[in-house]
Amino acid sequence: MLRTKIAGIGTYVPEQVVSNDDLKKYMDTNDAWIQERTGIKERRYAKRTGETTTTMGVEAAKKAMERAGTTAKDIDFIIFATLSPDYYFPGCGVLVQRALKMKEIGALDVRNQCSGFIYALSVGDQFIKSGMYKNILVIGSEKHSFGLDFSTRGRNVSVIFGDGAGAVVLQPSENDKQGILSTHLHSDGENAELLAMYNPGTHANHWTEKQLADFDDAEIAEMFMSHNMIDNAQNFPFMDGPSVFKKAVVKMPEVIMEALTANQLTPADIDMLIPHQANLRISQFVQQQLGLRDDQVYNNIQQYGNTTAASIPIAWCEAWEKGKIKEGDLVCLASFGSGFTWGSALLRW
Ligand code: UT7
Repeated sequence: MLRTKIAGIGTYVPEQVVSNDDLKKYMDTNDAWIQERTGIKERRYAKRTGETTTTMGVEAAKKAMERAGTTAKDIDFIIFATLSPDYYFPGCGVLVQRALKMKEIGALDVRNQCSGFIYALSVGDQFIKSGMYKNILVIGSEKHSFGLDFSTRGRNVSVIFGDGAGAVVLQPSENDKQGILSTHLHSDGENAELLAMYNPGTHANHWTEKQLADFDDAEIAEMFMSHNMIDNAQNFPFMDGPSVFKKAVVKMPEVIMEALTANQLTPADIDMLIPHQANLRISQFVQQQLGLRDDQVYNNIQQYGNTTAASIPIAWCEAWEKGKIKEGDLVCLASFGSGFTWGSALLRW
């Protein structure tokens, strides 16, 4: 049976380290609150100019390709997961294709936020297993720091997020003791607005019917990006943190158990769980629910904050570089986030 193996993995994080105390310059917050509620000590911020979601993704991709022993010319499909793209459109995938001077291959952008990397990995897995592609580049990258509300009003969101990128190269393998065993993906759009960036968008909910009645269609089209929206800080992400937290601690253990059960395995079989790095408290809760030892779970949110689509490959790569993941180990990836979407991937390294 053809399996998808991880031929190479790489990351890129920006140089600039921003501590919790550094954020006090902009907002009323403090190190104790941030560490106690989230576990975060510091995060990285990309350069204001010249360093984008795509450029960081490209750097991570170069490392992943080098470790896979492939070059950009060998890649036959790109999957790019992000919620902070360089442009509203086109997506970052085509920008990677251009930056790496790749062949005229397909490039797909995935918009599944915190679950973006697992969704992207799952799509790549299907293309490899079907025999359609032989070298797929999967990237998760975010430049959150460019689009957060740094005033006290936005502190519950802005202190959490950081910038960075991770990438893997997927290849087919005949060795059924290695590679992706399964992926499980879920969504529940009922609470789509609880963790979202509404604007710019086509919903125009920041205007009332009464206000809109005074404008014609051409004027309404200009409201896509309006002064009203900016004046009311509606151009920043919104999160109802406690509601997201409550759902995450139920759905993450559930989707991990789904993966284990599908493969006739139990939590004791996991060598390394890489949870999406949203909040150290969520990871600890998941660990406790599954009865996992500390050495079965890897967290690095303390250093990088929540890097959304990049958090899993950054933590996964770091754990591997530190020798915490060895050949043949059972690795489980799991995420929960905006959408809501959640998912898991189980693989043998
Ligand atoms: O990756 C995407 C998925 N996202 C998540 O999984 C996030 C899940 N949620 C969380 O991680 C937590 O809900 C947060 C860390 C976001 C917030 O922690 P919380 O314990 O749920 O706090 P809260 O939002 O209920 O706020 C508690 C208090 C409030 O003050 P009052 O109303 O009690 O006076 C906030 O104004 O903490 C205040 N607060 C802050 N204080 C200092 C909120 N943000 C900050 C801050 N610094 N940065």
